[in-house]
Amino acid sequence: MKTRGLETANKKLGNLVEIVEQIIKRKGKAKIFESGPGYGLVMIELAKRFGDKIEIIGMNLKPEHGNKSIMIKYALKRKIIDKSDLATLKFPKFIYGDAGEKLPFKTESIDLVYSQTSVYLYKDKMHFFEEVARVLSKNGISRITGGFYSGEEGIAPEFRSLIKIYRNGREIQAKDYVKKFRLFKIVNLRSGKQAIQINPGKLDFNLKLEATININHIYKNKWGMQSIYTIN
Ligand SMILES: C[S@@+](CC[C@H](N)C(=O)[O-])C[C@H]1O[C@@H](n2cnc3c(N)ncnc32)[C@H](O)[C@@H]1O
Repeated sequence: MKTRGLETANKKLGNLVEIVEQIIKRKGKAKIFESGPGYGLVMIELAKRFGDKIEIIGMNLKPEHGNKSIMIKYALKRKIIDKSDLATLKFPKFIYGDAGEKLPFKTESIDLVYSQTSVYLYKDKMHFFEEVARVLSKNGISRITGGFYSGEEGIAPEFRSLIKIYRNGREIQAKDYVKKFRLFKIVNLRSGKQAIQINPGKLDFNLKLEATININHIYKNKWGMQSIYTIN
């Protein structure tokens, strides 16, 4: 599904509108990055609401997963925008690439990073988290869902965890490993859900990506990438 909007994002990530309002109050403008926006409905809802007070960039793996024309088509259909907005709205920008590699932003340049239901597809999830910490500005904030578990029924136990970490041939639970890093936080949201919050700074998990397994190559209708790491 590539059409989740702001309402779902607010439940899964916390109130993004409030977060953006706070950044604008503090800095006048907000630079925002969404990783894996799909059709970009959250981005366009924020753009419609905040206008030129925000600059928003979304990175999909491929243009066919979501681009400006798909975004406009669905935003009109959902009545997020109307035709009169087409000439005036400051549209979010799409870029394409693998967000598990180096993010194409300067260090300390982004005020808000968010991502819903996308990280489970990345090969190098832990590197993505490190990069989020790097690109976030001082006092910048991030909210991320969906990286650790496939959450899928009908998947063998060995594929349910999407981040596997080994030390000297023994598996260490990824959720326990990340607890040691102060820039990595799990936050409890008002909705009762939890999200990952990476805080700005230098984050180095000291891991080496050894292999990835595409869950979809094993199960026809299931999606996710298992990332297997060793501790350096
Ligand atoms: C299941 S869709 C979710 C879209 C949207 N966030 C939503 O919740 O409706 C997954 C999105 O992640 C993006 N994606 C998958 N792998 C990616 C990668 N390695 N780097 C960046 N984006 C990726 C896809 O392009 C797609 O837009």
